[in-house]
Amino acid sequence: MMDDAAAMNEIDALATALADASPREILRDALGRFGDELVIAFSGAEDVLLIEHAHQTGLPYRVLCVDTGRLHPETLRFFAAVEERYGIRIEVAFPRAEAVEQLVRAKGLFSFLVDGHRECCSIRKVEPLRRSLARVRAWVTGQRRDQSLDTRQAVAKVERDPVFVGVDGAPLTKYNPLAEMTSDEVWGLIRALELPYNPLHDRGMVSIGCEPCTRSILPGQHEREGRWWWELAEGKECGLHAGNLASSTVDPGEGA
Ligand code: ADX
Ligand code: SF4
Repeated sequence: MMDDAAAMNEIDALATALADASPREILRDALGRFGDELVIAFSGAEDVLLIEHAHQTGLPYRVLCVDTGRLHPETLRFFAAVEERYGIRIEVAFPRAEAVEQLVRAKGLFSFLVDGHRECCSIRKVEPLRRSLARVRAWVTGQRRDQSLDTRQAVAKVERDPVFVGVDGAPLTKYNPLAEMTSDEVWGLIRALELPYNPLHDRGMVSIGCEPCTRSILPGQHEREGRWWWELAEGKECGLHAGNLASSTVDPGEGA
């Protein structure tokens, strides 16, 4: 097995080699290189484009979704529609039941409205993701620079995951093939290719997460304003991509 230094050199070399690559080329590289030791993280929104690109490579691919228990029913149905369209089974990861029970019994079902989303996200989203990523060597996300005016401006197409580790604690390669695309470009492709999309987008929701923490936005608002809107605008990351925060105040640890 490759040691950590060699793995990090490989990631650096990859980042250089793929600096000008298209999303499809990045996915082809990722799937060819890591095979079933890579998962595509799918949130159930416009990142369906990742699945389309993976599908078009003709290579086998795995799709992972974290079901926090608080997703909209529309999102769950959308997962089923995507499975049907692509003939795949999405690998769903769930939070630990005991941790959710403990949180809800202590603080109720809407604690995030009172003391912020971090604790709930940590239990419902980050921990299951951490567990899933500990079984692979690489993952693919739908992060884009234009998704956040503060935290995502520097998202790289390929990077060493700054938060999570892979199998046996080894460095994890994180691919963000859509990093340079704009929302308009993504949606242009979704329409042109007639890809399935989450019907919540028709109700003015742009960035879609859990039901209680997602709302529609008004013309001119940034998409991130539809997430955790009761909290300060700065640094809205749930912990999945906490490495985007320059001086991370998000503790991505279990149950933090
Ligand atoms: S979040 O961190 O604020 O929730 P966002 O909704 O912008 O993330 O999605 C960015 C990317 O994170 C998605 O394209 C996807 O790769 C990953 N992601 C977000 N939520 C999930 C989820 N529930 N399951 C799997 N991947 C997810
Ligand atoms: Fe909990 Fe909201 Fe985070 Fe979902 S987005 S895990 S409901 S705080």
